[in-house]
Amino acid sequence: MKQAYIKTYGCQMNEQDSSQMKGLLSSAGYTTTIDQHEADFILLNTCSIREKAVHKLYSDLGRIRPLTEDHPRLIVGVSGCVAEQEKKNITNRFPFVNLVFGPDHIRHLPEMIKEAEDQRVQKIDADQVESSIIRTGFDKRQDFQFVNVLPEAEENPVKAFVNIQKGCDNICSFCIVPFVRGREVSRPHEQIIDEIQELVDRGVKEVMLLGQNVNSYGLKTTGGVTFAGLLEEIAAKTKLKRLRFTTSHPKDVHEDLIDQYANNPILVPHFHLPVQSGNDRILDLMKRQYTREKFMWIVNQLKKRVPDIRFSSDIIVGFPTETEAEFADTLSLMEEVRFDQVFSFVYSTRPYTKAAKMEDDIAKSIKDERLQRLFALNKKISFEINESEVGQVFEVLVEDYNEDTGHEYACMGRSPQNKIIHFAGKAQPGELVDVKVTKANPYSLYGEAV
Ligand code: 5AD
Ligand code: SF4
Repeated sequence: MKQAYIKTYGCQMNEQDSSQMKGLLSSAGYTTTIDQHEADFILLNTCSIREKAVHKLYSDLGRIRPLTEDHPRLIVGVSGCVAEQEKKNITNRFPFVNLVFGPDHIRHLPEMIKEAEDQRVQKIDADQVESSIIRTGFDKRQDFQFVNVLPEAEENPVKAFVNIQKGCDNICSFCIVPFVRGREVSRPHEQIIDEIQELVDRGVKEVMLLGQNVNSYGLKTTGGVTFAGLLEEIAAKTKLKRLRFTTSHPKDVHEDLIDQYANNPILVPHFHLPVQSGNDRILDLMKRQYTREKFMWIVNQLKKRVPDIRFSSDIIVGFPTETEAEFADTLSLMEEVRFDQVFSFVYSTRPYTKAAKMEDDIAKSIKDERLQRLFALNKKISFEINESEVGQVFEVLVEDYNEDTGHEYACMGRSPQNKIIHFAGKAQPGELVDVKVTKANPYSLYGEAV
């Protein structure tokens, strides 16, 4: 059996793409290995959301070069967002790369790998000059097909990702995603339901639905089901225990989704809702299409109807022209919402984007200083929330049990609010256990099974 080594950079979407590519590669006769020295095919599945992605890829390719010299039949591929962004630049600089393909071409991986194998054989047998296979660009919206292959079953599956949408039609001025993942397309709901049921049959308890902008699911498909309708259908037609999703856009959150949080029995009380900034002028420059007031409306509605809900978010610091007072608005919004987790990023200019036309005028030292203040506030709020949870009981989905660690908390799992809880007790991955919290630290909780 041939072996493939896949390195994944970046977000959950990329992890899911890699796991689908593993499934596709197995149909082409490959198993996966974690040792690149053993590999017949090395694939780097890249991310370009923030800068340095290209440097990182190029330095990894530099390290792979000697392997291609020792192993002439080795096939090297680059996929994902940097492949889409850089196209031929990659093979111009690293001619040993055999395969470059963007996210819309994943489903053709078995044919592409076969083509690359044939080229290699010809090259070795006849010493021909080799040409690389480059597949970038996007399918027309109506032609895009989702991959309906599940990777091979894992031994103790607890959680899984399910794609419900690809691409993004928004125009957030800082973001490269619409340029490297193409137009938004929603996956037919029947395929989603079938896939979730198959995962449940394998033992999966929790599914995270994935899309760049899940709230607009179905809106561009004629006769389609909406996102709220999809959540309802999953609860009604599958035996799934817990349902999550990411990522949402606040401009597309309406009453119907809030109703789902209040009424859907398997939708967890946790909402990852990227706000990016707490200041209206910056939100406008970011082309986010909502105000701080609209964001707070969503948060307050949800807090009223789902009292145990927790929020997490993404925030960018140092967007071009952001003043100290505007950054302070972001901090005050964090206090007002009380996010229990914030993923924060220093603004970086990305090719093709609207914001790239603005001068990146905030000094690195100021960006770093703002990031540190944001971290400190996030840590303080998160610790306060965690301390307030001591004494409460949460239903924990067990992800790990290890009695050999020698420390008293042999089990690890997550609460519905997505918080990691370590607890004393004996439980197998996949079990749902009630746990009373006895101790808190800023980022996790400790407790005992009750
Ligand atoms: N600079 C910094 N952060 C960015 N993000 C997206 N584009 C940029 C950029 N150019 C962040 C946003 C997004 C998250 C996935 O990455 O906060 O929500
Ligand atoms: Fe990027 Fe905005 Fe689309 Fe999210 S919604 S992927 S931030 S353009």
